[in-house]
Amino acid sequence: MVKKLLITETALRDSHQSLAATRMTTEEMLPILEAMDQVGYYSLEAWGGATFDACLRFLHEDPWARLRTIKDHVKNTKLQMLFRGQNILGYRHYADDVVEYFVQKCIANGIDIIRIFDALNDPRNLETAIRATIKEGGHVQAAISYTTSKYHTNEAFAEYAKRLEDMGAHSICIKDMSGLIKPYEAFKLVKAIKNSVKIPVHIHAHYTAGLASMTLLKAIEADVDGIDTSISPLAMGTSHAPTESMVATLQDTPYDTGLSLEKLDVVAKYFNGIREKYLASGLIDPKVLKVDVNALRYQVPGGMLSNLISQLKAAGKLDKLDAVLEEVARVREDAGFPPLVTPTSQIVGTQAVNNVLFANDGRYSRVTKEFKGLVRGDYGKCPAPIEDDFRKQIIGDDEIIDYRPADKIAPEIDILREKVAPYQEREEDLLSFALFEQVAVKFFEWRKQQIYKLDENGDAETGVHTI
Ligand code: CO
Repeated sequence: MVKKLLITETALRDSHQSLAATRMTTEEMLPILEAMDQVGYYSLEAWGGATFDACLRFLHEDPWARLRTIKDHVKNTKLQMLFRGQNILGYRHYADDVVEYFVQKCIANGIDIIRIFDALNDPRNLETAIRATIKEGGHVQAAISYTTSKYHTNEAFAEYAKRLEDMGAHSICIKDMSGLIKPYEAFKLVKAIKNSVKIPVHIHAHYTAGLASMTLLKAIEADVDGIDTSISPLAMGTSHAPTESMVATLQDTPYDTGLSLEKLDVVAKYFNGIREKYLASGLIDPKVLKVDVNALRYQVPGGMLSNLISQLKAAGKLDKLDAVLEEVARVREDAGFPPLVTPTSQIVGTQAVNNVLFANDGRYSRVTKEFKGLVRGDYGKCPAPIEDDFRKQIIGDDEIIDYRPADKIAPEIDILREKVAPYQEREEDLLSFALFEQVAVKFFEWRKQQIYKLDENGDAETGVHTI
């Protein structure tokens, strides 16, 4: 029996997030959207993750307008986004009313599939987002943050997948954000999850350590239902396996994707121009394109590595990078083996930098507020128990949060509505403000100036199309 393998194309979200600091603009996407819509992908991952922050912070773009624009040009293919559970697209936990309203607006503006994950794989952090997505008629793809430790067995992952299915997920994604799954491990993991759930299983594996194509192939042989890929000019390195290569590999096999290499070539030619432009401007650093097998040793996702490098550069201590990477592994163990993905990657990374830079005063002599929060339970339950002595050293006699962290967050929408009023032009501004207060205000002020300029000279070509 031929089983059509589903392809999720990540060019519009994760590929440029991984290779080019999330800087692809809506204008750069526009000319190719209709051709992408013709390919026959299962879905286009096009929004969420860091794109929301990057739009507001760096690109003078309203992320909501980007979503509507993409939807206007993509009529046949499902649009997919990445959503950080109770963190939404931000870096802290938000109140349930914000999560619910955000989900409602994502779907109202064009999202079909919401891939929802939690950095700690604490199902309580996914409850509200899953419930809200179901209520709005969206597809819940619940994701497992993949990592390795003695606590992260295939059985544990399969059990977690079952739990997510019971919570209402329509499909499962194995999210290997650091590219750690080795091909034969992927085979076993997919088998274990397929045995424990009835819903489709997808896999998302970064190319960082050079394994992704092989990993995807073994996952396919284990009957995975869908894979994430990047059109070739934006593939490999810290991004994903190339779409065309996977499509070609599977042609005339029981896993044929049914996609046409000719149609993909149109998309590839376009993005080749973008790649050349990014390489020329330095937006793509050739460093991110090379195979980095050390990722397997340190478990550090690409984005986290570049953050560590810039923190050390700023301190003039780049020579300490190896020491920091080794310390990351130790801090992760102390903190109960959290998978390293936003926001835990930043929290563990920054603490490791402190431990190395202030080693003379002792490890953990400078503990960040966020690391205290992680150890206290503010972000949810860590995968492994944290030693009592260690917890006491970090948080003293603070209350331990052993309940669902969002239970202690009071509803926020009413207060936010009052605060955003002076800047608000559209309903969704409330949600941009909720996530990135200061960054959003800066954007709103810039936008106001653009409108003022437009009024003054009556020129419609002043760049306001991105609003
Ligand atoms: Co990713």
